[in-house]
Amino acid sequence: MGLTTALAFAHQGVHVVGYDIRSDLLGQLRQGRSPVFERGLAGLLRRERRSGRFGTVDSWEALAAKTQVIFLCLPTPRGSGGRIDLGPMLRGASELGRALRTARGYRLVVVKSTVVPGTSEDVLRPALEKASHRDSGTLDVAANPEFLAEGSMVRDAVAPERVVIGVNSARAEQWLRRIYRNFGAPIVVLSPSGAELVKYSANAFLALKVGFANEMSRLAEMLGVNVDHAMDAVGLDSRIGGRFLSAGPGFGGSCFEKDVRALLARGRELGVDLRLIRAVLAANDDQTAHATDLIRQAVSDLNGKTVAVLGLSFKAGTDDVRESRAFPIVRELAAEGAKVRLHDPVALENFRKAWTSDPQRQGLPVSFCRTVEEALQRADAAVLQAAWPKYVRWPPRWSRLMRTPLVVDLRRALDPSVRRRAGLRWVGLGVGTPARARRGYVRGSVRTSSAARNSSSGASGRVRT
Ligand code: UGA
Repeated sequence: MGLTTALAFAHQGVHVVGYDIRSDLLGQLRQGRSPVFERGLAGLLRRERRSGRFGTVDSWEALAAKTQVIFLCLPTPRGSGGRIDLGPMLRGASELGRALRTARGYRLVVVKSTVVPGTSEDVLRPALEKASHRDSGTLDVAANPEFLAEGSMVRDAVAPERVVIGVNSARAEQWLRRIYRNFGAPIVVLSPSGAELVKYSANAFLALKVGFANEMSRLAEMLGVNVDHAMDAVGLDSRIGGRFLSAGPGFGGSCFEKDVRALLARGRELGVDLRLIRAVLAANDDQTAHATDLIRQAVSDLNGKTVAVLGLSFKAGTDDVRESRAFPIVRELAAEGAKVRLHDPVALENFRKAWTSDPQRQGLPVSFCRTVEEALQRADAAVLQAAWPKYVRWPPRWSRLMRTPLVVDLRRALDPSVRRRAGLRWVGLGVGTPARARRGYVRGSVRTSSAARNSSSGASGRVRT
């Protein structure tokens, strides 16, 4: 997030220097290498290094000396009781504050990281003032949350839909308006707490929206309806909007769950029970359990079966596996005796590292496959967990590698024509077949007869989409 933000500023004509306490990361940037898989980031890095508007420094002191406005893009990991751990932010604030003691003139410190409402004003400002021996005469602290989604971070950073700044001085506002003047986005000016609340509200609302579509997907299955068709029509209402209504195996990623928990914790501290937001997390777990049930029912008895899970990142377009729904799904399948073969075009190594670091998962029958072909070899079913373009094209030879050409598509990513050409038996999450609706398909039930089960998942020709 920090790198993308820095490069977006450089792209819009602002001179930027970056600093990180990890020297290996600075080394990579100097060689023009992007440290993460993110569309467009490596190209932007190369271009902005060439433009001379982006460089790096090796210390807080150099950063404090060379810059007027300093954006803190430090991590805010999960802490205890749902709260975020402000440790990295506070360490950064105190290091920066110390470096600011010797720097001359006014400085504006801007909190880009996601921090709960009240943090910039009540926690970070005092920490910075204490460490820097400055006060509001020569130091301002502002909040300026980001709304970047992985996979589209560069676009989101270079061309944001809105810029939200939280300030309590005209000087800070002027500086931020200057920095964002070429972005062509509306600038909303609030207090620091107000800006912080916008970030959490936006993520909580998006999580609610996805959770809503997920619940509708379970109804759609029972009713013999395709959830996408229904949600597309719902989203045509401009008061609702069509994005983030795509049902799936439950949301993952480093933000939604963590942010929802942190917002709930902040609500508790302030004596406000956020009942609606609280329901989001349980509903999300229900959806993952439902996705697993769908696989269980499609495959029939999992014990001894070979199941390929394709797509391990929390969504397509990123190598990030944090809170990916692939973890609980793979664990369930393996615990029930399935041999699980895993593949992802970019996130395989990250998944492997995270999977093997948890002792509770040791000994479960999973294997990591370098190619889709290896994963599909003699498989009884394939599960599409993240809709990478590679999978969506599904060449017919992939079906021939499988023992049973069955795909449980948790994202409804495979087009009917692709399925037909590949001769697939296809079960789509959120896609009810008339047969399933008549029979009264029940979540959690694994007691339907195999004949009924086979007819419910049906040949692809019978699936109405
Ligand atoms: C999210 C927000 O979208 C960003 O605006 C925000 O800046 C970011 O969190 C953050 O706080 O840093 P991100 O977590 O990268 O971005 O990814 P999303 O595209 O929001 O997806 C989150 C999860 O929801 C994924 O698992 C995705 O598959 C799922 N999702 C999303 C659905 O299941 N259906 C949808 O229609 C949309």
